[in-house]
Parts: sequence; C-alpha cells; structure tokens
Amino acid sequence: MAHLLSTSCTLKISSGYKPYSRLTQDSVASFPTSFTFQTSKSPFKSLVLPGERSGGGNCNIVQATTISSSREASKNPSSVFDQSSTEPSKSQKVMVIGGDGYCGWATALHLSKKGYEVAIVDSLVRRLFDHQLGIDSLTPIASIHNRIRCWKSLTGKNIELYIGDICDFEFLSESFKSFEPDAVVHFGEQRSAPYSMIDRSRAVFTQHNNVIGTLNVLFAIKEFREQCHLVKLGTMGEYGTPNIDIEEGYITITHNGRTDTLPYPKQASSFYHLSKVHDSHNIAFTCKAWGIRATDLNQGVVYGVKTEETDLHEELSNRLDYDGVFGTALNRFCVQAAVGHPLTVYGKGGQTRGYLDIRDTVQCVELAIANPAKPGEFRVFNQFTEQFSVNELAALVTKAGNKLGIEVKTTSVPNPRVEAEEHYYNAKHTKLIELGLKPHLLSDSLLDSLLNFAIKYKDRVDTKQIMPSVSWKKIGVKPKTVAA
Ligand SMILES: NC(=O)c1ccc[n+]([C@@H]2O[C@H](COP(=O)([O-])OP(=O)(O)OC[C@H]3O[C@@H](n4cnc5c(N)ncnc54)[C@H](O)[C@@H]3O)[C@@H](O)[C@H]2O)c1
Repeated sequence: MAHLLSTSCTLKISSGYKPYSRLTQDSVASFPTSFTFQTSKSPFKSLVLPGERSGGGNCNIVQATTISSSREASKNPSSVFDQSSTEPSKSQKVMVIGGDGYCGWATALHLSKKGYEVAIVDSLVRRLFDHQLGIDSLTPIASIHNRIRCWKSLTGKNIELYIGDICDFEFLSESFKSFEPDAVVHFGEQRSAPYSMIDRSRAVFTQHNNVIGTLNVLFAIKEFREQCHLVKLGTMGEYGTPNIDIEEGYITITHNGRTDTLPYPKQASSFYHLSKVHDSHNIAFTCKAWGIRATDLNQGVVYGVKTEETDLHEELSNRLDYDGVFGTALNRFCVQAAVGHPLTVYGKGGQTRGYLDIRDTVQCVELAIANPAKPGEFRVFNQFTEQFSVNELAALVTKAGNKLGIEVKTTSVPNPRVEAEEHYYNAKHTKLIELGLKPHLLSDSLLDSLLNFAIKYKDRVDTKQIMPSVSWKKIGVKPKTVAA
C-alpha cells in the first residue's frame, strides 16, 4: 500500500516543537495522478532519531497514469516562452535532489524549460522545519504537487516527482533505477548554519542528513549509473575567511622545495558548513577511487526570488526566507526595509562574502550540466558573481529604500556567530564565466523589484522571527524549546 508521507511513521517531537500536520494533509489532498510518486517508508524519522534509521525499509512506488488536474494543458504551451529560449539543448535526464527548495525549484523549472527531462527528489523536510520552528516563507508557496501540475498545464512539460529521503538508500536506489539520470543536481541538504547550531539534535541531524545523503548519492551513481555526472551544491563558506586569495578548489603550494597542487584549505564555521566540507572530501575520494565525475559548486549567498519560469504564475512562486534561521543577508534586509524594521547588521558588519542572483544559480547549474566533468574528475567552481560586506549591502538597501520613499534604519546587533567581523576577502570566480555565465549583477532595478516584492507580501511578515535567535556560543545539548 502506498504511504502518504508520515502516515506510517511515528514522529517523536520534543515538547517545544509545534505539532505537524499540514504537510500530510496537503499531500493527501493534492496527490497527483499524473506523476511518478514514490515515498520512502519513513522520510522524517531521522530528524529526531538520527542514530536509529532503519537503513532501508520498504519502498512504495505508485506509477499513476491518469491526469485529474483541473487545469488542462494549454493549447500551445511552449508559447509562454520566447521561442529561441525553448529549443531543447539536450534530451538528458536530470534528477534534481532538493527540487522543492529555494534553489532547487527554480533550477528544476529552468532545466525543464531548456528541454531536459527533469525529476524532482525531495523529502519535503524543509517544509517540516518551517512548521517546527513556526516560521514561513514571505511568499505563499503551493504544494509541490500543485506546483508541478501548474507547470505542466502552462508549458506541457512533465516533471517527475519522487518523495522520499535520500538517506534511505532503498528509496534512492529505486528512484535511480526508475528515472535513470544522466546528471544529478544535489541541492537536498539542511542548509542553514543557525539551524545546525540550535542544539545537539539539530547538529547531529544536519551532519547525518547531509553527509549520509551525499554518500548515498555517490553509492547510487557507482551502483546504477556509473556515467552519471554529479553536480553538488557546496558553499563558499567551506573556505572560511583566510588572509590570502581564495582559489577555485585547489591551490599550488611550494613547501621545502617541492611543489604540489592540493585541495584549498577549508575552515568551516558551523556544523552545517562542516557537513559540506565532509561532503567535498567524500566526493573527491570517490572520483579518485571509482572514477565518478563530479562538479562541486561552491555557491555564494543567493538573493532574489523571481526567475523567468517562477514568474509565470503565482502557483510557481519560489520561497523567500527572511527569518533569523533561514533568511540570508540581502533577502532578509529587503524584507526588513519593507516592514520598517531596522536592518540587522551582526557585529561590525565587515563580514564579506560572495553573492549571486538566483537567476545566475540556475544558469550556473545548467552550464555545469552542459559541460560535464570527465570520468574521475573532481571539479570545483566558485559560484558567485560579486562580493559585498554586510555594511555595503545595508547601504545599498538603504539607498534603494529611500528611492521608494521608505526610511531605512540600520542597527548593529551582537553577533550570534563566531566569525571575523573585519577581514581580507578576495575569492576567484572565473571558471563559470569561462563556460559562458552572463551574470546578473546587483543593480538598482533588482533591489527595487525585490523591495517591491517584499512590500507586496509585507502583511505576511512575522516581525518576531527577524532577530537572530541562535547563538554559536550558547549551543545546548538539550532540545531548545520554540516560543509559541
Ligand atoms: N540559499 C543559499 O543562499 C545557498 C548558498 C550557498 C549554498 N547553498 C546550497 O544550495 C543547496 C540548496 O539550498 P536552498 O537554499 O535551496 O535550500 P532549501 O532548504 O530551500 O532546499 C533544500 C531542499 O532539500 C530538501 N532536502 C533536505 N534534505 C533532504 C533529504 N535528506 N532527502 C531529500 N530531500 C532533502 C528539502 O526538503 C528542501 O526542499 C543547499 O545544499 C545549500 O547548502 C544555498
């Protein structure tokens, strides 16, 4: 019998957590009959019992054949795009793990539009985090089933859907055998540094989810799709902030008269960032040992919300996080400005990082897929287009807000993180440009549109969620309670 997500699993939630029900109801209500829908037996079990995963369990596959969507495919679906951009560049099959998330959803649609056959694999655990922490995306987001149905009705393009946890190897194996991907884009991780620093259980969950999930993907490629190209999302945060230039993955060092090109040193600054470093080592090793072909995209902080594809219909809207746990710098500042909350600069505000527009995330991933690594090659690209300090971002948002007649204030709050607040930062990022990336640099018009977008949804903002609530130094062993 097919299980709809958590119907067969017991969720043990500490008393501070909010009970979780909406996800299950949504999934039941909108169960798609036109998709391949596959669930692992207990996708969320590891969230609370990371050490007690069953290591498999039965996989339940539903191959549905009829379409019950209320929306019919439009008569000429491809007309929603300008014709030149709809030419399929490849008929490759791309599995997008984490395709219900911020970067993954935009990428899945972009690849589908470009003519790739796309399957989304996602446990929907990110929606569960929101429920547990009492936070929400600024933008209302449709269920994954309705998103995919909407895409199909507008464009005629099908996206397959596999619901399950990639830490469950049996589920992942079945997804690989069923879809047979030529490339896997792996976004499917717990991606918040503050979340990983809440308490012991979230630190363990983050590292288990991310490291074991990636390990399973590597084993699935070795076992079922040896030629499949892995495009893995890493982060610029893996490098930390060294007092020398940051290279793209490797550095040539001469030491005691001998020279070698070695992986660039990593200095991660949270349990989340450390999980990404472990992933990188595991991928590098399997490229060497098994001949896997992989590209590690060390992504900077992503900003923006609209892409050409998500902008087609409200039901395709992407998520936009502004809260102290999942919100990232520029997106968060725009929402703060829109609701008249001072921009929260942590400490001195000299923290400098690489940034990119979400429209460039989707472009970079497509470029990596279209130009795959060779068998046995572990490629590293630094995926960002510009670098800014937090103070520089605050100044840009203040200026953009003033132009729209909003008075924007900035406040310095004690830094909840352990990090350098003033430092040298110069990171290389030429390899994706060499492959053809045409960056959307941060412009007044983008800031205007992001601010206007935030203003449109400002009634949905819960100002209690804005301030940082997780401290690197005060991390506890016990599950932290969540204020109601
Ligand atoms: N957003 C950024 O600014 C940013 C910056 C640098 C790197 N990245 C990386 O890009 C990737 C995507 O980030 P995002 O912002 O889209 O995150 P997100 O939280 O919006 O999306 C991640 C998706 O992965 C899914 N997922 C998580 N664990 C899973 C598992 N075990 N099995 C199946 N699905 C799982 C979640 O349900 C979610 O839909 C992450 O790996 C992140 O580290 C993001």
